Amino acid sequence: MRIGVLTGGGDCPGLNAVIRAVVRKGVGVYGHEFVGFRDGWRGPLELNTTPLGVPQVRGILPRGGTILGSSRTNPFKVDGGADRIKRNVSTAGIDALIAIGGEDTLGVAKRLTDEGLPVIGVPKTIDNDLGATDYTFGFDTAVTVCMEAIDRLHTTAESHHRALVVEVMGRHAGWIALHAGLAGGANVILVPERPFDLDMVIKHVESRFATQYSPILVVAEGALPAQGAEVLLSGEKDAFGHVRLGGIGQWLAQTIEERTGKESRAVVLGHVQRGGSPTAYDRVLATRFGLHAIDAAHDRNWGMMVALRGTDIIRVPLEEATRELKTVPMERLAEAEVFFG
Ligand code: F6P
Repeated sequence: MRIGVLTGGGDCPGLNAVIRAVVRKGVGVYGHEFVGFRDGWRGPLELNTTPLGVPQVRGILPRGGTILGSSRTNPFKVDGGADRIKRNVSTAGIDALIAIGGEDTLGVAKRLTDEGLPVIGVPKTIDNDLGATDYTFGFDTAVTVCMEAIDRLHTTAESHHRALVVEVMGRHAGWIALHAGLAGGANVILVPERPFDLDMVIKHVESRFATQYSPILVVAEGALPAQGAEVLLSGEKDAFGHVRLGGIGQWLAQTIEERTGKESRAVVLGHVQRGGSPTAYDRVLATRFGLHAIDAAHDRNWGMMVALRGTDIIRVPLEEATRELKTVPMERLAEAEVFFG
């Protein structure tokens, strides 16, 4: 078979490890041929391809980002987009696609599969919010980056007797905040799944200061105060209708300063969480996803996504994977609350 590969949505450490595994096993074991599509769904939409063989995937295992490029292109927002993709794929003599992406990219994969295009999905996102898989690759790297930052912030916060608010990514899921906060020993963790009580946050901050230590608060970019609305820097939306989040960290630091009289600073970790080399865990998970994705394609098991269940890689329908977001359960947050204040 001749198989097209694309990476869509926000980039994520481990994407290159998936591409490498797909190509190495696809060529070496099954004798398939590959074509890279540039920049997510924009590639097949505009028939923008790049050679993808064993020489192109040499040395890319530890490299961050994606050698194929990425974008948040939504072909269903383009007039005749889906038909154009089907036409272009057939013109390029491609039999099937492997789409590596999060809920948006895989949502498109699901709709295209319904329209007859043979697609296999691979779940990626630092947010870890995809249903049907226990973990996505990229998440462990993002959490590790946050943890290392929090470790550093503890010492500067102590030196200056300041509160430090660390804003992390995750969109509408608090997984990065929860894991980074637990790993970094945060005194408050705020997640989008439960609007926070500002009075309670202030109480935790004051009780931490009372012990002569400085509070570190980890806040997910999508967290919001129970008493107010979502804090946003802008109302900008992407092609999938997602609003650009950010701003809650600064707002919280300012509010803490006003309410407690203690100096506070906000640190927004931003895209540092997504950049650079994947951790060992993410390299292994991404590699295993790639190996199983090419198996699924070889079996012509279209419309499926590879997923992690326990320690096994299984196949689940794309429909199941994109049905609903996997958010932080309240009992997981309750575990972390032991350390608040
Ligand atoms: O979905 C991954 C993610 O990094 C989110 O955590 C974040 O809200 C979003 O992408 C940021 O998107 P962009 O890179 O387009 O600003």
